[in-house]
Amino acid sequence: MKEKYLVTGANGFIGSHIVDSLVTKRKRVKILIRKNSNINNIEEHIRNKSIEIVYGDLRDKESLKKALDECTIICNSGALTDLSASHKDLFDVNVHSLKTMLELASKRPISRFVQISSIGAFDKHHSVINERTPLNPINSYELSKVEGERIALSFFKEKRLAVTILEPSAVYGRRVNIGFPYMLEVLRKEMMRYPVNENNLLNLVYVTDVVEAIELAIEKEEAIGERFIIGGEKSYTYKEIVEAAAYELGVPPPTKHIPLSIAKSFVFVNQCISKIRKRKPELVTNYFDYITTDMNIDITKARTILGFKPKVELKEGMREMVDWYLSSHTF
Ligand SMILES: NC(=O)c1ccc[n+]([C@@H]2O[C@H](COP(=O)([O-])OP(=O)(O)OC[C@H]3O[C@@H](n4cnc5c(N)ncnc54)[C@H](OP(=O)(O)O)[C@@H]3O)[C@@H](O)[C@H]2O)c1
Repeated sequence: MKEKYLVTGANGFIGSHIVDSLVTKRKRVKILIRKNSNINNIEEHIRNKSIEIVYGDLRDKESLKKALDECTIICNSGALTDLSASHKDLFDVNVHSLKTMLELASKRPISRFVQISSIGAFDKHHSVINERTPLNPINSYELSKVEGERIALSFFKEKRLAVTILEPSAVYGRRVNIGFPYMLEVLRKEMMRYPVNENNLLNLVYVTDVVEAIELAIEKEEAIGERFIIGGEKSYTYKEIVEAAAYELGVPPPTKHIPLSIAKSFVFVNQCISKIRKRKPELVTNYFDYITTDMNIDITKARTILGFKPKVELKEGMREMVDWYLSSHTF
């Protein structure tokens, strides 16, 4: 059967970059999106008819059947990524829909099923995180990602479905829709204050590097049945990240601090407003769980088995993201 890709979550942040890359490489691509999905990120591909579209919902088995039809490679980037969503909603999309998709895929000639998981669920109290670090999910989103991984790997073990799991660290870049737009906004207004120890280590990975990791995972036979942490070459302190963003925005870097409880209250109010407006909040209070602990990661496994080598360094990635932010937002 001729190679054909299914990309779920194709209009989202990471999914739209996967589609960009596949279309550039002239691959046959099908996407599954909802009738009311915001298609700004993939408008050009739709206009150029370079992708095939199935309108449906990940939670609907018939949509999944149509989406999978004729496809041989699956990039599952569709997920509920709103950390403030209910446990039920998160599990409906990130676990139950995934299971249905895996069941359907296991009855088809699928050469690779790449599941995009997350590094978030690793126990955050380890100085260096690698694939052997124990998992310790602390919220429903993380629980849903861990359960999704467990089910996906069970399809490899029991049905020999060619599953590969990728666990990216914090992904940034053009079209990012969580965390960073909020950070850039407060920085631009020169209202940024450090709510926590600004010397905590964080790992960021540029979105096109994640896409490259996905493509390597599809290429390499040795990737089947494996989990890979995907991250940037080195971790940076929160302060270094904020200063890199401030530099690209042309604003002075912050020097002041505010108590964590006050920062959380601001974010909570923003989160409530987003809920009322029925849109995904750009920042949620759980965000502070991620920036209050060191996250130093080891990508040796991805480097060795996949040949993964992140290309975009913090300065260049920040410049790209800030350029996109300034040109796509009205102030
Ligand atoms: N961004 C990061 O820093 C990061 C880090 C680690 C892992 N990840 C993982 O990477 C994947 C992609 O994340 P992202 O940042 O690209 O998220 P995103 O921008 O929120 O994209 C999620 C996509 O899933 C789609 N989706 C959600 N529910 C759906 C449903 N019921 N039916 C059909 N489509 C549905 C969304 O479509 P709508 O627009 O219609 O809602 C959207 O296209 C996720 O699995 C996430 O857990 C992300």
